[in-house]
Amino acid sequence: MAGALSLLLAFHFLFTFFNCSSLAAIANYNVQNLGAKPDGKTDSTKAFLSAWASACASTQAATIYVPPGRYLLGAATFSGQSCKNPAINIRIDGTLVAPSNYDAIGNSGNWIKFERVTGVSVIGGTLDGQGVDLWACKNSDKNCPEGATTLAFYNSNNIAINGLSSINSQKFHILVDECQNAKLVGIKVSAPGNSPNTDGIHVEKSTGVTILNSKIGTGDDCVSIGPGTSKLWIENVACGPGHGISIGSLGWDSQEPGVQNVTVKSSSFTGTENGVRVKTWARPSNGFVKYVLFQHLVMVNVQNPIIVDQNYCPDNKNCPNQVSGVKISDITYQDIHGSSATEIAMKFVCSKQNPCNGITLEDVNLNYKNEPAQSSCINADGKATGIVQPNSCLYN
Ligand SMILES: *[C@@H]1O[C@H](CO)[C@@H](O)[C@H](O)[C@H]1NC(C)=O
Repeated sequence: MAGALSLLLAFHFLFTFFNCSSLAAIANYNVQNLGAKPDGKTDSTKAFLSAWASACASTQAATIYVPPGRYLLGAATFSGQSCKNPAINIRIDGTLVAPSNYDAIGNSGNWIKFERVTGVSVIGGTLDGQGVDLWACKNSDKNCPEGATTLAFYNSNNIAINGLSSINSQKFHILVDECQNAKLVGIKVSAPGNSPNTDGIHVEKSTGVTILNSKIGTGDDCVSIGPGTSKLWIENVACGPGHGISIGSLGWDSQEPGVQNVTVKSSSFTGTENGVRVKTWARPSNGFVKYVLFQHLVMVNVQNPIIVDQNYCPDNKNCPNQVSGVKISDITYQDIHGSSATEIAMKFVCSKQNPCNGITLEDVNLNYKNEPAQSSCINADGKATGIVQPNSCLYN
């Protein structure tokens, strides 16, 4: 009895002690104290940059806090190159708003950019890219700026983005490029289905990226996966509207790092252009895609639920011989069901030079207008097990 009591007291002491000491050890930078105005029209860029500079210079864990309200923010780069700090949390209870005139950030590549940071977490918040006017410009074929990616991480490690919303980005919503270990959880992406190039999350040249429990509706790919991506895990993502989850486009460059070990599971696609897609340019390349698992996916009225397209070449430009060098192998489709919006629900158009192999279909059931849909294969080897509908057209 006495032993249990003293143990309890000891725990109590330890708890209190560590609690206090950790509180004492966190430096806190509130952007409002540094001059940011929550009125949506005063440029608060300097306050955010100075919060970052202080957090970065602090040798203890630091939090940057953004209280409720709307903050106008111009293009901002948060560099970790000379940071002393092992961990910076950015807690956002408010909304960051891009300048409404798209020229202000439209040529800067990115709106909110992190580079060479380690251990940065972004928690909560809404990022409003104000892309509407730029899309209108692009859709009317005028000479418009390329547009800025809303939130980009480059050359960074151990990143977390948690409960963030991104709306109406000019170009991509979120970019993870040359990073290791990034965890994106509870992300909400929202832009209209006809907004050009507004990919939800683009990952490339990165290892160990996880995307969980997210809802992505946008005008381009919900998630797009570029060259040099490995160990990517995507689970419980609701995609639509949008162009689906896409590995590619790959193979533009003749020398290109491959994509490997990608899992997409327990996700849904609603009214999208594609479900799960692998897409390569019809150009010479040493790129590859291997060890991919697509598992437990639901398709609702999706134009191309399962598609591999190695003939990508818009306007038939820049594709000598119209053949892709990218090698696609070891892709498994397991428990994929629902409805296709077109007759051909499963399409493998692989390279004449490098046929797809090791494709596995297991328990696939896709219908078109309540009838079994159809499949189409070119240069694709693999096997089917369990119930597969439409019938597999893979060569054994
Ligand atoms: C990818 O997965 C394969 C097979 O499961 C494994 O042998 C390989 O080590 C993995 N590669 C990477 C880069 O994770």
